[in-house]
Amino acid sequence: MVRKRRSIRKYRPDPVPQEHLEYVLEAARLAPSWGNRQCWRFIVVKDPSKKRAISQRDWVAEAPAIIVGCADPNLSGSRFGQQYYMLDMGIAMEHIMLAAAEKGLGTCWIGGQFDEETVKKVLGVPQEIRVVAMTPIGYPAEEPTPRGRKELREIVSYDKW
Ligand SMILES: Cc1cc2nc3c(=O)[nH]c(=O)nc-3n(C[C@H](O)[C@H](O)[C@H](O)COP(=O)(O)O)c2cc1C
Repeated sequence: MVRKRRSIRKYRPDPVPQEHLEYVLEAARLAPSWGNRQCWRFIVVKDPSKKRAISQRDWVAEAPAIIVGCADPNLSGSRFGQQYYMLDMGIAMEHIMLAAAEKGLGTCWIGGQFDEETVKKVLGVPQEIRVVAMTPIGYPAEEPTPRGRKELREIVSYDKW
C-alpha cells in the first residue's frame, strides 16, 4: 500500500461504502500515540454545504466525504518544547491513507489549505481543540504518476550523520 498511495486531487462523486469508511477509520483507531493517549477525534463530513464551507479547493469539496483530523493538545504529551499531538495525528492520518489505498480509495493530505477557525465554526469544534489536517476520500478520477523522491543514499546513513 505504501507504493500504491498517491495524493489524489480529482474524485468521482460515487459515495464511499460505509464498510470501507469504517475500515479506514478503524485503521486510525489502531494507530500508535504518545502514551497511548489517543488525543484524536475524526469528523466525517458528507454534507455538501459543509464540505464546501471547510474547503479552500473545489476538488476537495467534490470528494464524497472529507475526514477532518482534530487533536486535543492537552491530552497528548510534550517534551523539550515539542508537542506530540501533531505527530500523533500525522501517524493516524497516514494509517487512514494507507487503509484507503488498500480499498482502492484516494486521499490527499490537506495540511495548510484550510482556515482552522472556519472549520471549527462550521463543525462545532471546541476552542481548545486543534484542527490538524483533513483529507478528501473517494474513488480517484485520476491516476497520477508517482512523484519523485530522493534516493535512499541521500537520506540514509549508517552509524553516523
Ligand atoms: C503534512 C502534509 C501537508 C500537506 N498539505 C497539502 C495541502 O494542503 N494541499 C495539497 O494539495 N497537498 C498537501 N500535501 C500533499 C503533498 O503535496 C504530497 O504528499 C507530496 O507532493 C508527495 O506526493 P504524493 O503524496 O502523491 O506521493 C501535504 C502532505 C503532507 C505530508
